[in-house]
Amino acid sequence: MPVKKIVNKKVTEKKKVTPKTSVQAEKKKPKKVTKFQTPPTLRGMKDLLPRDEKHWRILYNTAQQFADAYGYARLQPPVVEEAILFTRSIGEGTDVVDKEMYVFQDTDGDALALRPEFTAGVARAYITNGLHSESQPVKVWAWGPVFRHDRPQAGRYRQFHQWSVETMGARDAVLDAELISMAYHSVTDLGLSAIVHINSIGSKEDRERYIVELTGYLRSKRSYLSETSKARLTKNPMRILDSKEEQDQVVLEEAPQILDWISEDARKYFMSVLEYLDELEIPYILRPTLVRGLDYYCDTVFELYESDKEDGGALGGGGRYDGLVQELGGRETPAAGFGLGIERVITAMRRNEQESGYVYEDPRMQSTIYFAQLGVQARKKALGIIELLRKNGILVHHNLGKTSLKQQLEQANKCEVTHAVILGQQEVQDGTIIIRDMESGNQEIVDQKKLEKELRRILK
Ligand code: HAM
Repeated sequence: MPVKKIVNKKVTEKKKVTPKTSVQAEKKKPKKVTKFQTPPTLRGMKDLLPRDEKHWRILYNTAQQFADAYGYARLQPPVVEEAILFTRSIGEGTDVVDKEMYVFQDTDGDALALRPEFTAGVARAYITNGLHSESQPVKVWAWGPVFRHDRPQAGRYRQFHQWSVETMGARDAVLDAELISMAYHSVTDLGLSAIVHINSIGSKEDRERYIVELTGYLRSKRSYLSETSKARLTKNPMRILDSKEEQDQVVLEEAPQILDWISEDARKYFMSVLEYLDELEIPYILRPTLVRGLDYYCDTVFELYESDKEDGGALGGGGRYDGLVQELGGRETPAAGFGLGIERVITAMRRNEQESGYVYEDPRMQSTIYFAQLGVQARKKALGIIELLRKNGILVHHNLGKTSLKQQLEQANKCEVTHAVILGQQEVQDGTIIIRDMESGNQEIVDQKKLEKELRRILK
């Protein structure tokens, strides 16, 4: 695991400069000012801009609604954890740990990492906060940025966001189905068509037996494998099943399948999960090569794709991880969860808008009132009135940065409001305010004290 050291740059104090006389200043040639080169956004990282807000808000609201409806509460672990937490959970030999983790030493000399996902942190928090003593299962969700030093390409970023949902402290096929249903319906609720890819990788013992069989087979075909897969043969042979290389695909067609190696109990459990999905009419396909890139999984593993776009990356993925909490020093705690890739879902939403004309309503303030002000005194009063209205549940569009009434009314038209409230010098003196019907241009002067009541009547 590479440890990159962060060096704190010393901030040097500026020297005091004695002011020069105007004659001296004239003689000296003006210094060439070298403009500071704006640092670029880091590769694979993106600024989230005001124009992106609509989609993010819709998705966040959806996540929150689903969490509330299914009884999940927020558990948000920190962005930075001890690096060992992820090495231990996700596993050495996985791409995430070996190649993609942002690891650094802080000034205390501790090896830390930016979280590459949420599950490890949530499992750690479950132990650290003694959540095993609360009513089980503990159902939690998290939302936020995660970091992987991946090779940037379409749908692959180095800072991306996940909505992570976990149910900890119970093992029941219905819980696996609940998670799959949440992942699937949160995406289809957004007007996207989705399909679940699913598999079972059985218990640790099942996998150990299977790996012997798989390695034997792959060794016999070693010369046909890609270089990456050859390297994985000793390190993590199950990862070869994930290979997209065509030459590996040919070899994999004949490879032993894990479903034939899992125990009777694991098979029954998996069949039960599938029965729930049938009952829920959630479309799925069995993908025998689906093993996922993180070591903590057992039994059910799944990924969610946009239908007919399964060559693109997954929108989300998850599965059962009954051994993780114990692996991290906690009690035996069966658990399962999934993570949705926010940027990927948003890309799909944008495509849906462009290709199918799907309309996503902006969930932000949809007020039909604009507040305009004219003159210094009116401006002074403006914030107070806006705040008073907000306190009483009335939100108004406004732009206090503008002084011209014309510009403000133009903006009111852009916001497509039906009414504007105008406060001018005269109104401030009289304690009144104007309400203007934007369509007819009719204006009515009302007592400021009655403004709230009048607006309520209009907003009805
Ligand atoms: P994961 O499959 O590694 O699972 O990531 C979940 C989702 O994050 C992926 O399906 C994808 O949509 C998105 N994603 C992954 N890498 C990138 C990237 N470089 N750029 C943009 N999006 C990306 C996990 O992280 C597990 N912790 C999920 C889980 C929760 N399992 C159980 N509980």
